[in-house]
This record gives sequence, structure tokens and C-alpha cells, in this order.
Amino acid sequence: MRVHAHIAAKIHAAGGWIGFEQYMELALYAPGLGYYSAGAQKFGDGGDFTTAPEISRLFGACLASQCAAVLAESNGGSILEIGAGSGRLAGDLLTSLEAAAALPRRYRILEVSADLRARQRAYLHGRLPHLAGILEWLDAPPEERFDGLIVANEVLDAIPVSRFRWQGGRIEELGVSLHGGRFGWSARPAGAVMSAHCEALRAAGDEAWPVGYESEYCPRLAPWSESVTRALRSGAVLWFDYGLPRAHYYIPERAAGTLLCHHRHRVIDDPFAHPGLQDITAWVDFTALAEAGAAAGFEVAGYTNQAYFLAGTGIDLHMRALAGADERAAARLANEARRLMMPGEMGERFKVMAWTRGLERPLSGFVLHDLRHTL
Ligand SMILES: C[S@@+](CC[C@H](N)C(=O)[O-])C[C@H]1O[C@@H](n2cnc3c(N)ncnc32)[C@H](O)[C@@H]1O
Repeated sequence: MRVHAHIAAKIHAAGGWIGFEQYMELALYAPGLGYYSAGAQKFGDGGDFTTAPEISRLFGACLASQCAAVLAESNGGSILEIGAGSGRLAGDLLTSLEAAAALPRRYRILEVSADLRARQRAYLHGRLPHLAGILEWLDAPPEERFDGLIVANEVLDAIPVSRFRWQGGRIEELGVSLHGGRFGWSARPAGAVMSAHCEALRAAGDEAWPVGYESEYCPRLAPWSESVTRALRSGAVLWFDYGLPRAHYYIPERAAGTLLCHHRHRVIDDPFAHPGLQDITAWVDFTALAEAGAAAGFEVAGYTNQAYFLAGTGIDLHMRALAGADERAAARLANEARRLMMPGEMGERFKVMAWTRGLERPLSGFVLHDLRHTL
């Protein structure tokens, strides 16, 4: 496998060991080879995993309600979607916004994968040919300032993380080396920056970590999120992902961390099982995301779970409007809504955080149940 050889060469060149953050970067994003850079189908029934927009149009319809309110307040404006996957969410959002006479001036997609960019273009130009003029793909964050929204569903969980282990009195960095031709975990003493960061996480918790406690954190979260949102002059950034506030994340019970891989709808906890062929994700520390938003000059205007966000943005109304008089469609949509809102599953494990700048009105997705006090 070319991606295996590519990563193995990097490990050799680095003297036999690389940090997990570098491994995750290469396995997911090595140009032409990584999971997100190469050509296989990833989303939906024929892929590796299913996201909320792949489950139901209701997700895009609800998000469109929120977007329409922000676009109205910012007197028009544009939408930037980060990491658009198959393009489904963009298609559903634009369809709902058009029906509400609330189309954005531009709909731009910042997408790291050239293969997915081509798939999104083909899908959206096929589905909404009359809107081709407002669509644009970017391979770097926009530089010119704009008003409106930035949305990202399940992107933060794919930003490479560093992995550590608490060894009672010291922190080790867990990296990757070759064990008889296979990749495997390999520990070394953590450097000063990682040690200080992990000690702060440990000190912030209520309960002591057991010896051997392993977890991860995302050193790029703040710089990356700042860089992709810098151009937003006024409006909202909406981050959807699975994750927890820090106080619930780094608890002794979660002693193996939160890394998860997806391959053909199976969840695998070994990030070395299928390099380049499986997704690798880690939960988002939403306290860290709130800190990043504040440091980037935004107001953290809301934090809730997916079920409350969808309820607050009118999922009941959207279900009725999309089904019309068709009873079978109504039953199908009700089933999809259950999947999106299920307690203990997507409805609760997925969170939504809003960063805003210059907005006066509260965002409807957060009015039913705002969980900011848990951050
Ligand atoms: C798990 S998929 C989610 C796709 C889509 N948002 C959905 O909900 O179906 C992650 C998406 O983010 C993209 N992505 C990952 N890292 C990115 C980055 N640093 N910048 C832009 N896009 C990124 C991937 O290529 C992919 O399109």
C-alpha cells in the first residue's frame, strides 16, 4: 500500500518515530494517498460512515432556518461551508434557503480534498444547475472580509490530535514506530509543551487519573479554527461535532481516550488497522473550542446538543412541510428525525457551538437548552 510506504518512509527519515499528530495528518491527508485525499467513497450506505446530512434532509432544513435568520440580520451575506463531504448538506441548505427566498450572495466551500471537491462540484451542478453562479470552491480560507455564516459538520473531529499517557508522575507522548513492518504505538517522554498542557488538563479534573491513563488533545484546534474564521466580519460560525466539555472529557472512566476509526460502517479502535482506508477521529473538547472562539475575538453565543438545536430550529415544522400530504414520506421523515435526535446517540453525543460577531438577536437553535454553563 502506497500510504503505508509513505508513512514508513517518514518514520525512517525521522529516526524511527513520529508523533501521532503527524501520523494522523499523513494517514488522512497525504496528497493523493490519505483517506480524505484519495478517491474512495466515504459517506452514506456504500461508504465508511454516515453523517447527519446523509441521514436526512431535515438536518439541512433546520440549519437553513438558522442561516436565514443570520443572513437577514446581516443584510444578505454569504455562507462558507468547511469540509462539505459529498455536497449533500450544501444541496439541502441551498434548496431550503431558495424556498424561503433567503439565498446567500455566495456559497463557498473550503475543502481540503481535491477528490471530494470534484465530487461536490459534480453533485451540486447536477442538482442545482441554476445556482452554479453562486457556488465557489476554495483551497485556502478566504482573505477578503465577508458577512454571513461559516458552517462545519464533522470537520473538527478530523483535525489531527496528539496522544499522551499519564505514567504517574510524568507524561509520555504516544507516537508511532514500525514493529515488524506494522505501525504500532511507541512512547517517549513528553516535551515541555505537551507536559505542561497535560498537567493543566489533569489538574483541572475533579478525580485523579489512573496510572496508564491515555487520551489526546488537538494542538491545532485554536490556530486552525482562527485561520478559517478570520475573514468573518459579522455573523455566526456553527460547529457541529461529537464531543464534550473538558470536565466530562478527561475523566478517569475514559482512560483509553476517544480515538475512533470508521471502515465500512464498522467502528475500529486501532488507528493502524487500515492506514489511508479508514477515517480516524477524536472527540472535540468543546471547552477548548470555546476558548479558541474567545481568543479569536468571537462571542461564544450558544452551545447545545444536536437534538435541542434541531428542535429549536423547527424540525417539526420542516417535517410537515417536506412531507405534505404524503403519509409514507411523513413516516420516513419521522424515522429520520428520531435517528438525528436519539438520546444517547446522535441527538446527545453531537453538540453544536455558535461563535458570533456583531449579531444582536439570539440564535433560535440555542434558545431551548443552552449548555454553556457546562463548558
Ligand atoms: C467527516 S467528513 C464530513 C462531511 C460533511 N460535512 C458531512 O457532514 O457529511 C469531513 C469533511 O471535512 C473535510 N476536511 C477535513 N479536514 C479539513 C480541513 N482542514 N479543511 C477543510 N476541509 C477538511 C474532509 O475532506 C471531508 O469533506
